[in-house]
Amino acid sequence: MKNKRQKKTSSSPIWGGRFDGSPSEIMEHINASIDFDKRMYAQDITASKAHAAMLVKQEIISAEDGTQIREGLDQILNEIEDGSFEFKISLEDIHMNIESRLKEIVGDAAGRLHTARSRNDQVATDFKLWVREELDHLDSALKLLQETFINQAENHASTILPGFTHLQSAQPVTLGHHLLSYVEMIGRDRGRIKDCRRRLNENPLGSGALAGTSFPIDRDVTTTALGFDQPTTNSLDAVSDRDFALEYLSLASILSVHLSRLAEEIVVWASAPFSFINLPDSFSTGSSMLPQKRNPDAAELIRAKTGRVIGNLASLLIIMKGLPLAYSKDMQEDKEPVFETADTLALTVKAMTGMFGEITYNIDKMLAAAKNANSNAIDLADWLVKVLGKPFREAHSISGKMVKLAEKQNRSLDELSLADMQSIEPSITNDVFNILNIDIALNARNSFGATAPKNVTKACAKARLKYLK
Ligand code: ARG
Repeated sequence: MKNKRQKKTSSSPIWGGRFDGSPSEIMEHINASIDFDKRMYAQDITASKAHAAMLVKQEIISAEDGTQIREGLDQILNEIEDGSFEFKISLEDIHMNIESRLKEIVGDAAGRLHTARSRNDQVATDFKLWVREELDHLDSALKLLQETFINQAENHASTILPGFTHLQSAQPVTLGHHLLSYVEMIGRDRGRIKDCRRRLNENPLGSGALAGTSFPIDRDVTTTALGFDQPTTNSLDAVSDRDFALEYLSLASILSVHLSRLAEEIVVWASAPFSFINLPDSFSTGSSMLPQKRNPDAAELIRAKTGRVIGNLASLLIIMKGLPLAYSKDMQEDKEPVFETADTLALTVKAMTGMFGEITYNIDKMLAAAKNANSNAIDLADWLVKVLGKPFREAHSISGKMVKLAEKQNRSLDELSLADMQSIEPSITNDVFNILNIDIALNARNSFGATAPKNVTKACAKARLKYLK
């Protein structure tokens, strides 16, 4: 680093007035955010154009200056997008890089753009615009994921697999029902996105450094231009809270936990002892040593990347927790966790959607597992209640004894003879075998929200209307 050290002759062109010396190279490095906040260039330019137009409208700057600023900013946008813009670390952040280039292009007019504005309301505005766009992208990606689940659920409305509690077979369920449970989870994730977007959508611009401004600005003008619902109400709050970013990271964390649980199910279902699913070649890898292996790497990585997302939430919570009002430079550290989370989710949601689009199911294996598990013991108990009028606790105990007997004989419950059953409960009749049939039992589970195939078909149609229109 020492060798590269440059001699500085002047301090910052933006705030140098008060300074005689220049920052050391180390100071420049710790202070600079341009390496990451350049991702907000489009938002910064949009917000600056809205601010300049408002200044013209309010006759705070001349129309001529306004035109020069607008045209200069458009040129900068082009330069950034065609790769010819030179980002300078000495200019600290995206705001000063753009303003400094504007000065090169339009001269004095550039210096008027920052009238009645501070980087504090500027950065809060840019960042909100960035997060808002990200929320919209995420929502569309999640809609596609829901569509993938709903399509599969329709095809598998009556496919049977064991439902688990404690990862022990509990009761048979339909695969469609299982997949639709994730449609509901993602639906709530999308609800959180909507909530976050609504609360975020207030315009900080015009709050100045912390106390507002004495210029006759009109905040409604920039509010409308930038698609906000209203201006923020309190300037101190507007420049110094990042709860919109925290809300984004919170909803991202909850979403990631949902994806991670599903990823875990894929890992389990794809393992040889289960063999419920086949992973597509396109979303699995082989082993360099063991030829038979097909590894669920995509699912494992979706599961693992949840750690980053939750870590990013923890990171920003910790950054914010000790800050007095209003802005502190600590808050510059708000962006990387958000950007990394957005990149992570863009990848994990896409990977999950791609993988699920191509997974195939081993229907016979799932059915066999559901049958092996004596998960109809509850149907037997319910039958004893409904037909023989037993109290449920007693019925539970009788059914348990029959499971024990079946296990002793190395059979499943429905393979016990009537005589064996009657040795435990004399009043039992042949009718009981009807309800021990897995299809009949499944069809009977038709209470609202339950797993019966008919319910699943209806629920798919409802989910389509609710989430995909
Ligand atoms: N790069 C800064 C950030 O991201 C911009 C705001 C700087 N404001 C200031 N008063 N130093 O937070």
